[in-house]
Amino acid sequence: MRFLQLPREVECIDKYEVEGLYGVCVTPSREYIIYDKVLAERSLSDLEKSVQELLRSVITRGEREVSGVIERADVAVKHILQRQFFGYGVVEPLILDDNVIDIHVLSGRPIRVTHRRHGELDTRIALSEEELKELVLRLSTLAGKVISEATPLASFIEPRYETRVSVVYYSDVTLRRGLTVDIRKQPKKPWSIIKLLDAKTLSPDEVAFLWLVVKYKIPVMIVGEMMSGKTTVATAILNLTPPKSKIMTIEDAPEIRLCTPYWTRTTTRDSPENPVTVFSLLRVALRLSVDYVVVGEVRGEEARDWAQAILLGHGAVTTFHADSPQSALLRLTTPPISVNPQALRMLNVFVKMIPFRREAGLERRAEIYVYDEEKLTPLYTYNPVSDEIKLNPSISSPIKDFSFFKRASLAHGITLDDLEKEFECMRRIIVEVHSEAKKIDSKLEKPDICELSETLYKRLREAGFY
Ligand SMILES: Nc1ncnc2c1ncn2[C@@H]1O[C@H](COP(=O)(O)OP(=O)(O)O)[C@@H](O)[C@H]1O
Ligand SMILES: [Mg+2]
Repeated sequence: MRFLQLPREVECIDKYEVEGLYGVCVTPSREYIIYDKVLAERSLSDLEKSVQELLRSVITRGEREVSGVIERADVAVKHILQRQFFGYGVVEPLILDDNVIDIHVLSGRPIRVTHRRHGELDTRIALSEEELKELVLRLSTLAGKVISEATPLASFIEPRYETRVSVVYYSDVTLRRGLTVDIRKQPKKPWSIIKLLDAKTLSPDEVAFLWLVVKYKIPVMIVGEMMSGKTTVATAILNLTPPKSKIMTIEDAPEIRLCTPYWTRTTTRDSPENPVTVFSLLRVALRLSVDYVVVGEVRGEEARDWAQAILLGHGAVTTFHADSPQSALLRLTTPPISVNPQALRMLNVFVKMIPFRREAGLERRAEIYVYDEEKLTPLYTYNPVSDEIKLNPSISSPIKDFSFFKRASLAHGITLDDLEKEFECMRRIIVEVHSEAKKIDSKLEKPDICELSETLYKRLREAGFY
């Protein structure tokens, strides 16, 4: 740790503790300062004494078991040993801080973090190239990935904190200049759709619409920039599928979390001898009789096989890095992706993520677009002035105005009138469940995604729609 104490001259606009071990101060000049509370409370001579005691016990007892040594160490010494030898050194406190959602490390530069409330902040911590190399090797070894000058690019989930680590290793790729590591954290618990509703990311109408759409297996694509909340929304709406749906997820790094017991969770493997690609996993998915095929993120030519899955009538939820549904459609239909236009006619619903900064921190709003008969129409749009999401006034019914619901009505033997009634019922249930949950736990940690899915479908059954 570079800081044992908060430097005296510093003013903080936000100040809090992390697990009782560290203190954090965010300054008006957008600096993130983290300091060690455990060590700050100890004098240097005191610490020296503890270390000497530890050394003596190692020498006199001939201790071989490292864990035994640590077990008997003094609190402060234990704290350092744990962080430096078993944890990730100076990066560890940043990982422990739940408010930090992204950690960006370039050798020799101050580490930058993305903070849940304050956005991008600079820290006063920098790692030398040697220190960063050591950290990368430790992270990758734990995840069972090989990183070297020959294989300099990697993205994996580090198992201890389940953070997603992306590395560009020192090599000819970086012109042998420096090394970049990005650590992306997941919330401890996935956000439920009710929590997204409460955060005003989605309106009750939008939630009901998406619930109807996934229930009837109409494919959904979520677009937005990086960190705009695509995977968060994908996870929440996938948990609106009927309980016990058969779902196969295909991801580079496992982020999506589901409740259904019939969940085939797969990730790609980028080993040089035996690679498993999104493409090969999709081939398998098409042979399994699953209800939904979920590709975490569609990027390149594998989109053609994903489109095939849609054509075969699988439900599909996917994310795509694009700033709008228009540009997503354009990129999907032109080289190198060149998806079969026939399949795109089945891709009828787009969610567009809009991230922005407010006083309260980083927020997200979602718009919904409908792609019907080769025409893209905004359905629910966001007005930043009133901070409201509203139905496009030229739409009279979000169900009957679009021809793709006819496809769903034929496939499921249900009339358009009944679909519309179900949509109304879903909206009522969502509003009820949200206000009931709010009374029990204002932060909406409860109900979790599994309890929520059960409640929603129980109420839908009581209303005669399931
Ligand atoms: N609606 C939201 N409101 C506030 N924070 C959010 C919201 N959705 C996501 N986040 C936070 O933003 C970060 C990135 O979200 P993620 O869904 O992984 O984005 P993407 O898939 O677009 O890169 C996560 O740490 C998450 O907790
Ligand atoms: Mg994502």
